[in-house]
Amino acid sequence: MNYTVVLPAAGSGKRMKADKNKLLLELFGKPIFLYTLEVFQQDPNCDAIWLAVKEQERDLIESYVKSYQLTKVQGYATGGTERQDSVRACLEAIPSCGVVLVHDAARPFIDTAVIANLVKTANTSGAAIAAVPVKDTIKKAEKGIISETIDRNQLWMIQTPQAFRYSLILKAAQAAYQDEFIGTDEAMLVERLHHPVAIVESTYENIKMTTPDDLIYGKAILESRLQ
Ligand code: CTP
Ligand code: MG
Repeated sequence: MNYTVVLPAAGSGKRMKADKNKLLLELFGKPIFLYTLEVFQQDPNCDAIWLAVKEQERDLIESYVKSYQLTKVQGYATGGTERQDSVRACLEAIPSCGVVLVHDAARPFIDTAVIANLVKTANTSGAAIAAVPVKDTIKKAEKGIISETIDRNQLWMIQTPQAFRYSLILKAAQAAYQDEFIGTDEAMLVERLHHPVAIVESTYENIKMTTPDDLIYGKAILESRLQ
């Protein structure tokens, strides 16, 4: 089943503590965001790729897209202050489509089987998000003292991609903007419209390159895939 992907890439990567957008940092000589783009370029079910970028980085990103022959990249939107603004700018820029996938450009290790499950589920139920079961014991603490141990069996660590029927996510993104609601993921915007969101089990490899240690894990994942 076909889909369009929207990739927010307009962050600055403060937690990575680099001197530039973390997506431009290289793993084995190739910038991080290109690994992500290549997954979608190579997925036969992906019809189109749209990127949210910072105005001042657009020329550089476009030149990489050309030299890596990422022919599915159909357009760019200018990113905003919050990730949510960048995603909304992209959603408003793309042509209407059936299912749209929102995926962090900073998650280069996404599995195509997970993408296919997400698209299939979103096509039937409207909204589906990638997640993995929590591995650690999770406790709540107040002033450094445990107040509650939460039942781990009900907890999921949420990732992207998050897949939606296009009309649903556009409506949810615009409603959040009007209400000045900021969520930490797209699903929250849909949840507040009381639309059910399904979980699709993903892989632990689908990490977001966020802090400097993630560069070490990222290199290890790439090396393991060569074997
Ligand atoms: N992003 C975006 N626009 C923003 C903020 C983030 O398009 N205003 C993108 C990032 O480029 C990244 C994805 O959203 O691909 C996930 O965000 P995050 O990991 O938080 O990246 P940054 O915001 O760049 O990092 P940090 O929060 O550490 O500054
Ligand atoms: Mg951020």
